Amino acid sequence: MALTPQWLDELRARITLSTVIGRTTKLTRAGREWKACCPFHNEKSPSFTVSDEKGFYHCFGCGAHGDAIRWMTDQRGLSFMDAVQELAAEASLEVPRPDPRAAQAAEQRSGLHEVMQAAQDWFVANLQGPGGARAREYLKGRGIDGHTIERFGFGYAPPDRNAMKAALGQFDEAMLVEAGLRIEAEQRENYDRFRDRLMLPIQDARGRVIAFGGRILDAEKKDAPKYLNSPDTPLFDKGRNLYNLHRASAASRQTGSVHVCEGYMDVIALAAAGIEDAVAPMGTAVTEQQIELLWRLADKPVLCFDGDAAGQRAAIRAATRALPLLRPGHSLQFATLPAGLDPDDLLRREGRAGLDRVLAAATSLLEVVWHHEQAALPLTGPEDKAGLKARLLAHVETIAQPDIAALYRREWLDRFSALAFPKREKSDWQPRQQQPRGGGIRFQFGKPALQPLLPGTAERLRHEVDARQDPLTSAVVAGLARHPDQIGRHMEALLRVAAAQPVLKPLVDALLHLGEMSGGGAEAPVLLDAGGAGPISGAGTILPPPGNAPFSFLQEGTDPVSAREDLAEAVALLAERPALEAAIAAVTARFDIDPEGAFAEQQRLRKRKLAFDVRLGQMARKRAVEAADEQVDTGPGERSPGAQETG
Ligand code: UTP
Ligand code: MN
Repeated sequence: MALTPQWLDELRARITLSTVIGRTTKLTRAGREWKACCPFHNEKSPSFTVSDEKGFYHCFGCGAHGDAIRWMTDQRGLSFMDAVQELAAEASLEVPRPDPRAAQAAEQRSGLHEVMQAAQDWFVANLQGPGGARAREYLKGRGIDGHTIERFGFGYAPPDRNAMKAALGQFDEAMLVEAGLRIEAEQRENYDRFRDRLMLPIQDARGRVIAFGGRILDAEKKDAPKYLNSPDTPLFDKGRNLYNLHRASAASRQTGSVHVCEGYMDVIALAAAGIEDAVAPMGTAVTEQQIELLWRLADKPVLCFDGDAAGQRAAIRAATRALPLLRPGHSLQFATLPAGLDPDDLLRREGRAGLDRVLAAATSLLEVVWHHEQAALPLTGPEDKAGLKARLLAHVETIAQPDIAALYRREWLDRFSALAFPKREKSDWQPRQQQPRGGGIRFQFGKPALQPLLPGTAERLRHEVDARQDPLTSAVVAGLARHPDQIGRHMEALLRVAAAQPVLKPLVDALLHLGEMSGGGAEAPVLLDAGGAGPISGAGTILPPPGNAPFSFLQEGTDPVSAREDLAEAVALLAERPALEAAIAAVTARFDIDPEGAFAEQQRLRKRKLAFDVRLGQMARKRAVEAADEQVDTGPGERSPGAQETG
């Protein structure tokens, strides 16, 4: 038997709707009905009514309407079946099983829920016990307080290969395997999946433990992935769940927003900083199902991405995934963190104010796609312009909702025309610029207003470069002078460099002039070679002698695509470095007050600095290798293997 309309009517009849709604929304009597300020939209005077007789709620303000089941799915964020089950339990009604196989599956799931809860209790006990000392130290080192540890259910998995089997002996081995807690090995004994890891429970919309994420404690363990996650099981489908969903959905009812970060620790740091409505996917790109889940919580979820190249690729992937799903009133917003920092890092460095600044600068979906496409390639001629237009229209094609598609099309084409055919005189399209606030600069689009180019810019460039005595700065400046059509693309990063290191501001200004002068146009090389004539004469002279320069973009004969990619990475490294150095300086200064915390943090930052230096070295070596075998590698750098999902 399935869920017949009769059975659902019976369920509705046994439920008092006002009791269900009254748990989270304050209702007041109004004759035979109830009234409240609508929980689905922001309002001052109540236009939300609940009728127990009819079994429906209705909002005269926003049109929200439904029965008890609908309330559970739309307001509480449950799946339909979960909603039915929870209501049925409340009404003491037995949910009919569709068929024996489904009944069996349900029974199996309920068994698995028990296993998972038992595992969770055991992990928590381990963390408190004598074996958990190192894990407790680790948490302390990261500054995670006792309240947070308890609330997020941190635990610890001991190193032993069979510790869990011994502890959860009441469950069959087959069940432990099914739950993803033990790994089945051929020719060998099965073994515990999670060993010597800090454990985090992953819970479903109702707060039941359905999976785990386990983090290594030793940053030095090179061969082990940083996080190991449960595999997909009958309880867990990682594309259809979000970490912290159940807590965030409760919080989002108050805030009307939801924040999406990349990592577990980011969610936890946000919560500790008072932002409770945060969730994270579990090491994968955001899926369609996850976007739908997010839209149950808020109209415009805010997705936070690292400002580095990999983070921005992830942002654009999420954006293009959302386009086909867009519906009226629903969209996504994108907040860009400083390159190389995740929300947890940013909170540590700048506190809540720093994060608030980043969140306040979040941009729209329309903006993100536009920015990505117009910055993707230089607009040097009709072919490139046609290319940009075609890419924008291809995105429009993916939008299913016709009104939204039409509006995107109009806005993008307006922007395209303004960019591709600028009215030189009496332009009605003014470049937009957002003033830097407290050091955080974000570009919406457009170019900053520049002072007229002063004579001697090139000399200044060279002088600044010489004064720096820093190979990376020199290489980036020389690279951009050689490829001025790329300057516009890196404007945001360059402004970050200037903001972080005011001494480099003249250099950045001069580069932006150069970019403006070249206009992404073909005359750039001419300008470079002009030597003596014209306002930026002599820019070519800042190029280091080719034989001396390890970077591909400074070499003759490098494939242009490859040169552009390497240059982009060098710029990104240059922009990241001050943040990294500032963080190291800040943590060093903290040693007096918090030696343990500062030490752990310093180790972590050292590691990142090391990775940075390695990458820099690789860029130089790569050129040497290419020169040796005359093979050109055009693959853009992917995210470091440690950050990839492996669990
Ligand atoms: P991060 O490395 O950014 O995680 O990976 P994090 O939360 O900031 O970790 P800390 O601060 O170093 O402890 C983002 C997410 O990607 C998944 C995890 O879900 C992680 O939270 N991930 C990462 C994996 O699944 N496996 C890995 O090896 C690494
Ligand atoms: Mn982190």
